[in-house]
Amino acid sequence: MNWDKYSRFYDWEFDLVCSEQKEDVKLWQKLAIQYGEPILEICCGSGRITKELAKLDLKITALDNSEKMLAKLRSLQLKNVEVIKADMRDFALNRKFNFIFISYSSFQQLLTLEDQKQCLQTIKRHLAEDGKLALDISPFTLEGSNILSRSHLFTAEYPPHHSTISMFTSHEIDWLNGIKHWQDEYLEIDNAGEKRIWQNRISLKHCSRDYLKLLFTVCGYETEMIFGDFDCGEVKINSKNLIFLAHKRKR
Ligand SMILES: C[S@@+](CC[C@H](N)C(=O)[O-])C[C@H]1O[C@@H](n2cnc3c(N)ncnc32)[C@H](O)[C@@H]1O
Repeated sequence: MNWDKYSRFYDWEFDLVCSEQKEDVKLWQKLAIQYGEPILEICCGSGRITKELAKLDLKITALDNSEKMLAKLRSLQLKNVEVIKADMRDFALNRKFNFIFISYSSFQQLLTLEDQKQCLQTIKRHLAEDGKLALDISPFTLEGSNILSRSHLFTAEYPPHHSTISMFTSHEIDWLNGIKHWQDEYLEIDNAGEKRIWQNRISLKHCSRDYLKLLFTVCGYETEMIFGDFDCGEVKINSKNLIFLAHKRKR
């Protein structure tokens, strides 16, 4: 996905269509208070969660590899927030954190086992001995069949451009590699009737509960708990989010 290109729409679209995912903020606030500073948020994006943690006066290092997403976060001028542009697979901050987290399925943007292992090993080097790592995973990535012809998702006002945007999407599943590829299209019509089309692709790798537990073991972690919702409830067959909490395996 080209997050720099999509950054203009992210907060607007999230606000419009992600009413359930929005509830994750209270979980990250709770875990951040429980496990304490220093905190590293990976794939922080434009700071949707970062800014809510900053309100609690917590010291946060926020990392992402999209300059445009980070520019939005920087523009908030949050005190206690350090912003770092880096790839989640390969960064070196020369310090350790008590709590590291990746929200909103962002870990699933790593599409190969190699990338996933590299990321978890990099994180391990930044995790304090008793530190905790938390990941929010969507277990239903491969649900449904291919929808190859674009379908209309919503039409809404886009205040920054005084325009109206209709969003269309289609997706294709790569069953062999367990990856879903979305192709999104935003048709924008401004006040003067001028049309503009923006396109974007996003791909997410399926991670089941057992797969991720095994991945943690292979990378030297122990899974401590798995929550099935943002209230730290138990995992159910229809849980839309799995929140994994892990720590480094002791020798
Ligand atoms: C769905 S957004 C999540 C933003 C924010 N955490 C939230 O929940 O609103 C995913 C973010 O992951 C970032 N990202 C994707 N691949 C990355 C990588 N390899 N390293 C660091 N950040 C990455 C993107 O730039 C984007 O900001």
